[in-house]
Amino acid sequence: MPLLNTAIEPLRFREALGHYASGITVITSHIDGEQIGFTCQSFHSVSMSPPLVSFSVMSGSASYPRIRQAGRFAVNILSDEQVEISQQFARRGTDKWHGIEWQESPLGNPIIVGSLHWLDCEIYAEHAAGDHLIVIGEVKALDLQEAAATQPLLYFKGQYRNMRHA
Ligand SMILES: Cc1cc2nc3c(=O)[nH]c(=O)nc-3n(C[C@H](O)[C@H](O)[C@H](O)COP(=O)(O)O)c2cc1C
Repeated sequence: MPLLNTAIEPLRFREALGHYASGITVITSHIDGEQIGFTCQSFHSVSMSPPLVSFSVMSGSASYPRIRQAGRFAVNILSDEQVEISQQFARRGTDKWHGIEWQESPLGNPIIVGSLHWLDCEIYAEHAAGDHLIVIGEVKALDLQEAAATQPLLYFKGQYRNMRHA
């Protein structure tokens, strides 16, 4: 039955949104010799000219104030072999970079080795939206290498999936 109610119950809201399948990214940055990163599903393309992308981050994020300070971030689009990396970067208060192999991007952001693709961005704008911030980045560099054998990590109805066994 359709739910038409002014009070949208959080669990039902989350469940409804779970029907929108997406990829998974880790947003990374680097400041004062420290690597920063968090798992992020809410990545979207925004504009072609200028080339803009966005992500939404919860207001209580420990990572985002540091990313804002750095003024730049990389979007690491995860492959289906990186489920553990997605889980690791979603655990706050832990050493998220333990055992992670990374390389520096042209803008100086850490790129997680084995990612399907990456985009290097400067922060372009930030908008408050409820309990999240919408962060818009201008893309300054991207990965031009096509890793033909690699498939994306997918997320649907609260579970990791891959294109082989969707
Ligand atoms: C699959 C998945 C998707 C997520 N997507 C987002 C997101 O879009 N925005 C967000 O703020 N947090 C998202 N999170 C939660 C953060 O990764 C998690 O809260 C992280 O520990 C925040 O770290 P921080 O406090 O260091 O910023 C997601 C977590 C998972 C597992």
